[in-house]
Amino acid sequence: MIVLRIFIKKHILLAVCGGIAAYKSAELVRCLIKEGCEVRVIMTASACEFITPLTFQALSGHPVQTQLLDTEQENAMGHINLARWADNIIIAPASANIIAKLAHGLADDLVSTLCLAAECPVYIAPAMNQAMWHKPVTQNNINILRLHGFTLISPQEGTLACGEVGWGRMSDPSSICKVLIKSSAPSEPYLKDMHLLISAGPTREALDPVRYMTNRSSGKMGYAIAQAGIDAGANVTLISGPVSLSAPTGATLIMVETAEEMFQAVVLAAKNHQIYIGAAAVADYTFDELPQKIKKQQPNLQLTLYKTKDILASVALLPQRPFVVGFAAETHDLVRYAQEKLIGKKLDMIAANWVGKARGGFEDEQNALQVFWEKGSSELPMMNKKDLAVKLMTLIFECYQKKRLLREK
Ligand code: PMT
Repeated sequence: MIVLRIFIKKHILLAVCGGIAAYKSAELVRCLIKEGCEVRVIMTASACEFITPLTFQALSGHPVQTQLLDTEQENAMGHINLARWADNIIIAPASANIIAKLAHGLADDLVSTLCLAAECPVYIAPAMNQAMWHKPVTQNNINILRLHGFTLISPQEGTLACGEVGWGRMSDPSSICKVLIKSSAPSEPYLKDMHLLISAGPTREALDPVRYMTNRSSGKMGYAIAQAGIDAGANVTLISGPVSLSAPTGATLIMVETAEEMFQAVVLAAKNHQIYIGAAAVADYTFDELPQKIKKQQPNLQLTLYKTKDILASVALLPQRPFVVGFAAETHDLVRYAQEKLIGKKLDMIAANWVGKARGGFEDEQNALQVFWEKGSSELPMMNKKDLAVKLMTLIFECYQKKRLLREK
């Protein structure tokens, strides 16, 4: 079989900052060019102390810019044009200094100004001494960058140039290259012929014929996951609580109202699906619905709430269980509760999100997730729920494949 790969040359802008790891960036240029990318390089003044612009010019085949205000270079390709030219920007090595500047919106040299002007995805591959990396101020700056949509290519552990051992070594050029190439790969129907079951939205627990208890879930996260599944070629069954969204074209939609109805629908469907993703905000408690409207005769009213059945845990106990992915929505101790749910409910994976904050979680267009599975974890920074769903889906599929291959061994 002949596989045709259509590749439009990807434009990668490499920003090199000061640090001994700058020598590795030369190798990164070679890797990227080998993968068919067009690479242009910019450098900070301190980067030029470690490696010459000439090295990058020879490797990339293009002049290297080092200054923000250089009339000659601005005429050739100004910093704004360069920012627009780039499909992706990678800062490698990213020093503690550039990380701090970007986190606080400073624009006092070519690299920081260009990143502020950029509208494309920006990747950062930090390299520094381990104590600098672990300093709360650096970690805080990294978190700010994540929140602003930068993608971190984490440094590695090992012997550092200063002789100390610890975290801070720049990720190796081939790994950075892989991340950049993967981010630009055209989406393939990697879920073709697979059956995906997704629950989304809130449930409503009736108190009497006119009142109910519900929560703030809009269904946006679960519906975006359903769309990502369809785009990746899966047959998608979407079991949804009451929301005001249109179901993605191509999904089999089952509308339910209560936690019990969602339980029945999910458990029935689960055995015919390979993956179940529980993104719904299911009520943990319900009432015994009263047949008539409650009248306000007493000054206080006491209600008894009954625990609902746990859908995720029940699906995970099925003899022929699908790959089970849960969500954790927390206002505090997010990681601890998520990991407890992963283990306690015998899940394959859990996606944890903060709720009750200004950004992300319920109702918002954006969200961020910390994803955990038995042998790993991944952070998906704050972004549009649609993009987040695509990234989550790839992660789920990778873990699903690993588990399947292990089982087949
Ligand atoms: O719908 P949006 O407005 O876009 O918001 C998205 C979201 C915040 C609702 C979503 O990202 C999310 O976090 N969904 C899970 C919400 C939730 O109920 O979390 P939890 O930590 O209370 O529950 C943990 C897991 O158990 C969830 O996967 C939930 O679906 C599941 N569960 C809970 C109770 C129950 N009886 N059965 C369950 O299966």
